[in-house]
Amino acid sequence: MPHGQVNKTLVKLIFEEPVDGYTILDVGCGSGALSFIVAEKAKSVVGIDISEKAINAAKLRAQDNTSFHVLDAENTDLTVLGEIDMIVSHLCISDKIVENSYHGLPKKGRFVFACFHSDHLIEGGRRSRFSYSVGEMRCVLEKTGFTVEYLGVESEKIPFKNMDEAAAVIGLRRAEKWRSDGRLQNIQRYVESGGKHLTKSILRGKAQKNRKA
Ligand SMILES: C[S@@+](CC[C@H](N)C(=O)[O-])C[C@H]1O[C@@H](n2cnc3c(N)ncnc32)[C@H](O)[C@@H]1O
Repeated sequence: MPHGQVNKTLVKLIFEEPVDGYTILDVGCGSGALSFIVAEKAKSVVGIDISEKAINAAKLRAQDNTSFHVLDAENTDLTVLGEIDMIVSHLCISDKIVENSYHGLPKKGRFVFACFHSDHLIEGGRRSRFSYSVGEMRCVLEKTGFTVEYLGVESEKIPFKNMDEAAAVIGLRRAEKWRSDGRLQNIQRYVESGGKHLTKSILRGKAQKNRKA
């Protein structure tokens, strides 16, 4: 993923903090799109991803202050990674990842993330199972013990003229999956009934552990 595709508000939320002294964990780092941006200012960045292929791609670009490991963030005690000051995540989140991030952070440590919002590509007729509404995310964060500092949604309506353009907006690889689970056919019906845009909607957030302690 080119740098330009990492959510800009997420980067801003991360760089509001004194990251130059921080070791930052990037959960679900993929090939390191966010990790390498963060590594430009942070003391060090540790990236983890469940995909060996993604981690191998990240390792090809590794720098002195980055390291990458194949790990399942849902089933790993993140404290095994050593001292972490902040956890970040771009498009990789679940209730379990929020919970494990909480336990992996020190007191007052921050979790900063961007994930699909419940309206993301809703024209496909079904929400992404990785998406959250603002209320759902607030509930997961607060139930875990985090204090929510920021939650915001960024939505845009992307126009398209035909199914090829729609597939390009969805992402060609995802469009193939959508063909097999019926969502592409829902988009086809949406186009036939006069639909002219697709909604891209991203939820960004920042939360702190034991803020009041
Ligand atoms: C949409 S990609 C985002 C990758 C990267 N953060 C980026 O912005 O380019 C989601 C990533 O999460 C990873 N992932 C999914 N479940 C995971 C888990 N349980 N633990 C670690 N990584 C996971 C996937 O392998 C994939 O690389």
